[in-house]
Amino acid sequence: MVKICCIGAGYVGGPTMAMIAYKCPDIQVVVVDISASRINAWNSDRLPIFEPGLDDVVRSCRGVNLHFSSDVESHVADSDIVFVSVNTPTKTRGLGAGKAADLTYWESAARMIADVSTSDKIVVEKSTVPVTTAEAIEKILTHNNPGKHDFQILSNPEFLAEGTAVADLASPDRVLIGGRGDTEGGRKAIAALKAVYARWVLEDRILTMNLWSAELSKLAANALLAQRISSVNAMSALCEAMGANVSEVAYAVGKDSRIGPKFLSASVGFGGSCFQKDILNLVYICECNGLPEVANYWKQVVQINDYQKARFVQRVVSSMFNTVSGKRIAISGFAFKKDTGDTRETAAIDVCHGLLGDKAQLSIYDPQVTEEQMRRDLAMAKFDWDHPQHLVPSSPTAASGQVAVAWDAYAAAKGAHAVCVLTEWDEFKKLDYQRIYEGMEKPAFFFDGRNVVDVDALRKIGFIVYSVGKPLDPWIKDLPAAPLS
Ligand code: NAD
Ligand code: UDX
Repeated sequence: MVKICCIGAGYVGGPTMAMIAYKCPDIQVVVVDISASRINAWNSDRLPIFEPGLDDVVRSCRGVNLHFSSDVESHVADSDIVFVSVNTPTKTRGLGAGKAADLTYWESAARMIADVSTSDKIVVEKSTVPVTTAEAIEKILTHNNPGKHDFQILSNPEFLAEGTAVADLASPDRVLIGGRGDTEGGRKAIAALKAVYARWVLEDRILTMNLWSAELSKLAANALLAQRISSVNAMSALCEAMGANVSEVAYAVGKDSRIGPKFLSASVGFGGSCFQKDILNLVYICECNGLPEVANYWKQVVQINDYQKARFVQRVVSSMFNTVSGKRIAISGFAFKKDTGDTRETAAIDVCHGLLGDKAQLSIYDPQVTEEQMRRDLAMAKFDWDHPQHLVPSSPTAASGQVAVAWDAYAAAKGAHAVCVLTEWDEFKKLDYQRIYEGMEKPAFFFDGRNVVDVDALRKIGFIVYSVGKPLDPWIKDLPAAPLS
């Protein structure tokens, strides 16, 4: 019987291993983590991450062939295939700070595998890593294992998106396996991992290639996806200037089969733990390899994203008589997208900081994000959230009384001067906006950063509405826009 161990019980390790266990009842899967609280949550009724459909998958195999444990070393020692799915955040200190991937967690996992291994192992890179990391890992493993066991390194990047992780894992567009196809051991390792996925993934969707191509494909996929969003967001600014409607433009453009309709929704800016981090990582790799023009090209994707968030704040402030000082602003949605409680790099953090900087009083509502999480996020310096050693609030903002957390969207908007939609939760499409309007200060402003509301219906109620990339409300159009700082 094949034994799989996955190091890292996070957003990727947990759901991915649950799906493998679910689809392969004869494989024993153990997910381990240094965070005992995370493991406890995986073993409880309240999983540490919110992901539609995940509870059912976990419940059906937990305790049977799926286990969660903080006994990292013994389970690693006992396994045939070790997935490494630890976090690979952006470095905040030293060489490459603000761009390069911090491989501290990866390296410590690799050293531990070398230390405890008493048999040959296939080590699978599940984390997103810089190109050629496999070679570095191979060196750490072979130079540190006293028993001189054989380690085959495979790259098997994960493409799931949060909010749809279970569906993505059950029916992936492709599974990528990179390995040393030029050696006997490499070919065997590739075949062994392929056999796991082949239980439920069609053979022609399992792609095998060399290690560097697999590692780079992951960074390239995220860069291209994020580039589409920045492209449509750049268009949204032009649409507002010209009186065009970005949804219509995106629809027309997406009808071209060479372009396709997906990932063309204009927004307040992309968030999430991957896009920015992986593009910055790509930029750094380009710079280190003497390709400044290529680096600058990709850097623009992140810069447009920052511009889009700043532009949104500017619209809010300049529409409201150039000041939001002391005004109550309801924030509808804090997660980086709907159907997740994840707030990593969410656009809401930057928008809230912008408004707090202008002395607004915020009342925030999100159906899945806890008050504690919101306050922690608003107090954290850029990139520090994924570095446990820096988890000391670096700014007093969240404690300063400018932030309140509401239990629903109605409570958040009560007495507010404006509402800002920052996450596209379905429930925001169905709210009673007449009721919300009546409870607000007048004029009542509505800033839709996700294009979820019916702009005409809200204007009819009496709101002054801004919706990203849509023709501007006469109120906003006639105002001189303050320059972006
Ligand atoms: P995460 O922070 O949710 O989980 C990582 C886990 O690894 C944490 O629980 C941490 O405690 C644990 N860990 C760190 N070092 C460890 C060690 N030495 N031993 C045991 N456990 C250790 O991160 P995530 O979102 O699951 O992402 C993991 C990797 O997958 C990253 O490289 C990320 O870029 C990539 N990825 C993420 C997504 C996503 O949607 N979140 C999608 C594709 C790829
Ligand atoms: C992304 C990739 O999609 C996934 O393949 C990879 O494995 C991890 O990174 P994720 O970050 O979970 O997944 O979610 P995704 O759906 O890609 O959304 C990322 C951000 O872009 C969100 O803030 C989302 O709201 C935003 N977005 C997405 C847009 O603004 N417009 C769009 O058209 C699509």
